[in-house]
Amino acid sequence: MSADSIKTVAVLGAGAMGNGIAHAFARSGYHVILRDVEQRFLDRGLDTISKNVDREIKKEKLAAADKPAVLARIQPTTDASALAAADIAIEAVPEQLELKLRVLKEADAALKPGAILASNTSSISITQLAAQTSRPGKFIGMHFMNPVPMMVLVEVIRGLATSDETFATTMSLCEKLGKTPVAVNDSPGFVSNRVLMPLINEAAFCVMEGVATPEAVDTVMKLGMNHPMGPLQLADFIGLDVCVDILEVLFKGFGDSKYRACPLLRKYVAAGWLGRKSGRGFYMYS
Ligand SMILES: NC(=O)c1ccc[n+]([C@@H]2O[C@H](COP(=O)([O-])OP(=O)(O)OC[C@H]3O[C@@H](n4cnc5c(N)ncnc54)[C@H](O)[C@@H]3O)[C@@H](O)[C@H]2O)c1
Repeated sequence: MSADSIKTVAVLGAGAMGNGIAHAFARSGYHVILRDVEQRFLDRGLDTISKNVDREIKKEKLAAADKPAVLARIQPTTDASALAAADIAIEAVPEQLELKLRVLKEADAALKPGAILASNTSSISITQLAAQTSRPGKFIGMHFMNPVPMMVLVEVIRGLATSDETFATTMSLCEKLGKTPVAVNDSPGFVSNRVLMPLINEAAFCVMEGVATPEAVDTVMKLGMNHPMGPLQLADFIGLDVCVDILEVLFKGFGDSKYRACPLLRKYVAAGWLGRKSGRGFYMYS
């Protein structure tokens, strides 16, 4: 299948990433089938998309007159059989192996034989997920960044069995979406999290050891290294629980102690200080 023949995109999961992916494709003219398990999750996802489209209109990235057409291209559903109409399905359900396998097997059964099946996983092996479907050659990782409508990078991950055709189609689809795809091979944490998480972890160790305050660590990285956001501010944005989970994947995947999660990160997670989403992490949020 060529990227030009892709007209309908299914997105599995209407959460933070799923609604962003649906938004980006609908804005680019694709018909989107947005699937979640309950109507209230779909309603929440659609509400977020509507608000984010309004924000784009305010920033003059989109004409106000285009909003109804963008929203009309998104078909919400709780019915897995609706996926039969899709040319590609992109899975964006929570980062739990068993759940992802269940959702991917269900999609594999519903999709037409030629359709591509992609996962937005942050850290689970694409090769392992692909092996549980009937289409490992048509399986690929599409790691979008949060918030999807704004972030241009898509890390495109080739599993061991991903075909050259699937890879080429996916790269070209990302470009048609206005994104910049970067190809990487399947390895724990891919490139993004393998490089980012040790940075965040080391920043947390600096705070734990009393080397510097969170504000000081972030200021050094922002003013000294030209990072737009300090690593601890970014960790709060990602979620400290998510950071610990990804460090676990790196630690297990490489068997190397350099990836062990900082005890202070674990302590914050145990306290429910998960970052922005819980109102407190390295910083306080009102
Ligand atoms: N949040 C991020 O910054 C980020 C960045 C890159 C990648 N990711 C990855 O994207 C994926 C999704 O993360 P998220 O932050 O959007 O999660 P989220 O919890 O915000 O959303 C997940 C959605 O999936 C739905 N869901 C659960 N079971 C389902 C099923 N059986 N069928 C369909 N939908 C189902 C949930 O109801 C929820 O709406 C994860 O693999 C995560 O690692 C997240």
